[in-house]
Amino acid sequence: MITSIDHIAIAVTNLDEAVKTFSAVLGCAPETVQVETVPDEGVRVAFLPVGGTKIELLEPMNDTSPITKFLEKNGDGMHHIAFATDSIKSEQERVTRGGMRTLGEVRQGAGGKEILFLHPKDTNRVLLELTGKKPQ
Ligand code: CO
Repeated sequence: MITSIDHIAIAVTNLDEAVKTFSAVLGCAPETVQVETVPDEGVRVAFLPVGGTKIELLEPMNDTSPITKFLEKNGDGMHHIAFATDSIKSEQERVTRGGMRTLGEVRQGAGGKEILFLHPKDTNRVLLELTGKKPQ
């Protein structure tokens, strides 16, 4: 089952600047924001907590990152919405049973959490991510 909005992600060309900007908007101290590298996804990531959910800021690490292509096409902006699940596998099964396509399989994202992206062509051109638990 989908339990909440885990995060809303924004693609940015300059993570350090974006951390400053969003910290200023949310009223938190930029130096408390932790930046993580996720080499498999080709991104540097920062999460800023807000109202029980998070804003995820995504900066590409290299030219082959999917975020690089997104920025070339669209510039900085909204990238995806992530829904938390109590079981990512059963939610994957549920949505694909309904005919929805996924982008690849369940894999590990930031913080070691299981993640899965749904194909935006099947979801009104909004990229949606499902998140699961951290592996024990
Ligand atoms: Co995300």
